[in-house]
Amino acid sequence: MNDGVRPDPVKLSSDWMAVLRAREHAQPDAYLSDPCAAAFVTPAAETGVDTLGGGVLPSAVVPIRARLGDLTLLSSGVRQAVSLGSGTDCRAYRLPLEPGVVYYEIDLPGQLTGKTERLAAAGFAPRCGVRVVEADLRRDWAPQLVTAGFSPAEPAHWIAEGLLSYLSAERIQTLLAAVSSLAAPGSWLTFDIPHERFLRDPVFEPFLREMGRRGVPYVGALTDPAETLAGFGWSASAVLHRELATGGCRWLPPLPERLRTPPADVWLVRAHRP
Ligand SMILES: C[S@@+](CC[C@H](N)C(=O)[O-])C[C@H]1O[C@@H](n2cnc3c(N)ncnc32)[C@H](O)[C@@H]1O
Repeated sequence: MNDGVRPDPVKLSSDWMAVLRAREHAQPDAYLSDPCAAAFVTPAAETGVDTLGGGVLPSAVVPIRARLGDLTLLSSGVRQAVSLGSGTDCRAYRLPLEPGVVYYEIDLPGQLTGKTERLAAAGFAPRCGVRVVEADLRRDWAPQLVTAGFSPAEPAHWIAEGLLSYLSAERIQTLLAAVSSLAAPGSWLTFDIPHERFLRDPVFEPFLREMGRRGVPYVGALTDPAETLAGFGWSASAVLHRELATGGCRWLPPLPERLRTPPADVWLVRAHRP
């Protein structure tokens, strides 16, 4: 892959996300309800998380961005959603979605093989339509999505969680352009992405160094996502995790104390297509 991001470790990173969501789900005052995440928790995945960055991780962002995606999807009323770099995202199995909704899961070839079976073994069945699209999001993936049944004429919720940090600046622009060309009026887009400052934050230096060593360097960032998205025809709001930790924002529920630290310059973004 580009910029030192290697396919096998980047695929593994999805199981690390499941570990973080399962841990949050287990809290008595869980910010995120994700009973499916535990199906992907293995000793190797737990070790993968626990040996990262001397324990100083931007991990709070993981349940926060997932909650943002849940709230946006459930309130949007759209009938189709696209999870870009879906990995262990199990919304189609855990949210009370209408059976007529179709949830498209896009990830690298092979990454989603066996996901449905693993969830079935843990007692989870899809609550809506699920269609898997095996594609590299650095290539021309849109025709495959349309062939799978996606309608560019209908609004959709586009979700990119834990993905854009692995794409170069140029590829982020290309991806946003492709999403925007398929997004009908009424569509929503939610994602997280580091601010450029995050990539140089000494607090997270051990984490960033270890991610690089594992073949999953953080290479993608945006300084002003709302402005970038305005250029693609979206009306966007963005808040840094650091700001959420101290002040909150009107489109996310207040954070419990444990998700406030360490404050990270990582954006949470919610955009609407007028
Ligand atoms: C950190 S995980 C996030 C998974 C999920 N969205 C979540 O939040 O739990 C990153 C995911 O993006 C996928 N991914 C990374 N680069 C990709 C690419 N170029 N094309 C398609 N998928 C990619 C990985 O395979 C992995 O499943």
